[in-house]
Amino acid sequence: MIDTALTRHAGIEVPLICGAMYPCSNPELVAAVSDAGGIGIVQPISLTFVHKHEYRAGLRLIRSLTPKPFGMNALIERSSRTYMERMERWVDVALEEGVRFFVTSLGNPRWVADRAHAVGGVVYHDVTEAKWAAKAVDGGVDGLIGVNRRAGGHAGARTAEALLDELAPFGLPVVCAGGIGDGAGFAAALRMGYAGVQMGTRFIATPECRASDAYKRAIVEAGDDDVVLSERITGVPVAVLNTPYIRRTGTRAGAFARWMLRGPRTKHWMRTFYALRSGWQLRRDSLDPRGSREFWQAGKSVAAIHAVEPAAEIVRRCAEAAGGQPTR
Ligand SMILES: Cc1cc2nc3c(=O)[nH]c(=O)nc-3n(C[C@H](O)[C@H](O)[C@H](O)COP(=O)(O)O)c2cc1C
Repeated sequence: MIDTALTRHAGIEVPLICGAMYPCSNPELVAAVSDAGGIGIVQPISLTFVHKHEYRAGLRLIRSLTPKPFGMNALIERSSRTYMERMERWVDVALEEGVRFFVTSLGNPRWVADRAHAVGGVVYHDVTEAKWAAKAVDGGVDGLIGVNRRAGGHAGARTAEALLDELAPFGLPVVCAGGIGDGAGFAAALRMGYAGVQMGTRFIATPECRASDAYKRAIVEAGDDDVVLSERITGVPVAVLNTPYIRRTGTRAGAFARWMLRGPRTKHWMRTFYALRSGWQLRRDSLDPRGSREFWQAGKSVAAIHAVEPAAEIVRRCAEAAGGQPTR
């Protein structure tokens, strides 16, 4: 048991979050991390669209696999009204099903914070710099997740050290997201002053994750230099493995897309188009056993990942590496 503001807020034993991952968050992975003492986060689109669970039934499946707390990710960018209405419903159902820990990304987290706080829940918001942290703090969040330049998913621009310096003045617990793939990195982040760590890529290379063996093998074999940023997934840089497929298709948005992405109005249409196209491609490629397309997201934490290992073993090793440290 390691005591930090995150463990107290989330009611967990090890300050380790298995970050939400589209398309890699499946119920068995979420449950395995929570059951081992960390906290797994449900990604609702991954749960329903990729892994084909009716949303509430998926949450109940996780509950049947572990009595421990698990969380939910709400991507709250106001891109479309239909999407937002669905997200509000998903948050409400999560609250009804007893979820009390929320990770919000993009957008204004106020409405999630209001609903969560009404029943004793907490909200941590993903941020890449102080500008977004200030908005999240205004929105009433309880903690910040500092997404640094080594992260999988939407990477930030700062190092872990610089980002902590920038976020610490807000006076909320800060979790380190990005680049951490082993116990040594986990312990170093806590020593630096982080209240916890959010890992994504590390948990793809586990037997509990339903991603294909080819994808897991590629993570195990990759080094730092094999991760590049692509604008072609959502319109903003996302970390992917530099596979032959990515080398063939490129990482930069085309001229028309770049023009669309510059307009205040058209950028939303372009991003929606990207999100729909990529959502479909990522689902197909993450599950495809032949690994024929190799459109795979991963962060620079690949450098510290050398084997496919059970989620519980990863949590245990992190706890062990950080054992006996002063708490904050
Ligand atoms: C495949 C993949 C998909 C991701 N999808 C999401 C997502 O849907 N929502 C989100 O908030 N973060 C997402 N992330 C970010 C993770 O939650 C986490 O912050 C990040 O993976 C930490 O960096 P690491 O991969 O180096 O551990 C994703 C990351 C990866 C690797």
